[in-house]
Amino acid sequence: MFEKLPIALRTDYLRPNVTEEMICARKDQIELADNLLRSRRCRGAAYTGWLNPDKILSEEELARIAETAARLKRESDVLLLIGIGGSYLGARAVIEALGQDPDCVAYAGINISAAYHSRLRAKLEGKRVAINVVSKSGTTIEPAIALRLMKDLASTNAKQLIVVTADAKKGALRKLADEEGYESFVVPSDIGGRYSVLSSVGLLPIAYAGVEINKLREGAARCAELCKSTDPLSNPAYYYAAARNLLLEQGMTIELLATFEPHLHYLAEWWKQLFGESHGKERTGVFPTSALYTTDLHSLGQYVQEGRRDLFETFIEVRDDGPALAIPHQDDDVDQLNFIANKESEKERTLNYVNRVAYEATALAHRHGGVPNMTVVIEKLDAYALGALIYFFEIACAVGGIMLGVNPFDQPGVEAYKRNMSEILGRPGYTQRPLESGKARYVSF
Ligand code: PA5
Repeated sequence: MFEKLPIALRTDYLRPNVTEEMICARKDQIELADNLLRSRRCRGAAYTGWLNPDKILSEEELARIAETAARLKRESDVLLLIGIGGSYLGARAVIEALGQDPDCVAYAGINISAAYHSRLRAKLEGKRVAINVVSKSGTTIEPAIALRLMKDLASTNAKQLIVVTADAKKGALRKLADEEGYESFVVPSDIGGRYSVLSSVGLLPIAYAGVEINKLREGAARCAELCKSTDPLSNPAYYYAAARNLLLEQGMTIELLATFEPHLHYLAEWWKQLFGESHGKERTGVFPTSALYTTDLHSLGQYVQEGRRDLFETFIEVRDDGPALAIPHQDDDVDQLNFIANKESEKERTLNYVNRVAYEATALAHRHGGVPNMTVVIEKLDAYALGALIYFFEIACAVGGIMLGVNPFDQPGVEAYKRNMSEILGRPGYTQRPLESGKARYVSF
């Protein structure tokens, strides 16, 4: 394990629902999907620019990202990242997981809440704020509103402190950058938002937060190399993709991505978007949701153990999870924890070990309770491993989606609420209609 890459997939608790034989029986399907993807003949083939992570950016662009991030860092206390969905989640996932100081990046345009944006303005008061506004379309309402609301925070030196990441030619944001002379980066035309974290979309804010972007890219590139194998027994990403589809066929329509590391919360959020938007269409797809253990074992745990049996679990386990924190000995032993604190093995007296035991115990209990589960194991949480993990999920998602028969690169369903908003708000070009709540029915006291 971990010889070639710091990632492995534990599969024993998938049995009996999913066995190696069942996965191997899908080999032809995997090969076909892989071939359609790599020969750019799959549905949505125009959005496969993420396939080769080391080719997404030129050396010049990479250097400019690093320079701009360093300049913004010198000239500001906080980077306000304005963007939503694929235009911010990947960056936030990496920053929260690895950033030395994750609080040096704040987020706007991720909702339309007045309370959220007012509090954010108050929090940023007196700080030197730089802004990176990211939108491929340039028309998404949440970041567009946030830019209007927040732009003045960088006004001491807006020309220097506002950086735009947008389509190369199209859209309001590109026009704004050109007119105002803001420094700008390009959202690659062949990469959709949820696959864009390793492009300038994610890398600029990630570099600002002090994460080694070259290591992130290296990890992804190495994973891409290893994922060329179409043998699911030596390519855990394809094993994972095939296992999910097999479980779906058995009526397991919900996947719970669970981790015991709170700083992976946003990785789970990114993963939810990746799989939710890529597979959830044409009335199929596994519904992706997530849990943070052990916190959620005290809320959702009961349901997972004994509720409806239509879910499976994927754990993310980090083997070396940072500095070991020893559980202290206490003379009175009133809480009866000295049986841990007094263990002979130094390792077994640590919080890290107890957390690992919590994972093992949970995976076993849930398997016994009828929840098949697998575990993506990472050797340690660093930029290299995280880059590899990001690619692992991207390729699994793409190939799994092709096997499912959907286009894993579009998101037509996201338009429905946007169209309704445009009509109700009376956006030019749309037929105005009133708020439905005039006709709504309520039950009230
Ligand atoms: O993955 C996607 O394509 C979406 O999540 C988009 O990134 C999101 O809707 C934001 O779109 P835009 O970047 O055009 O503002």
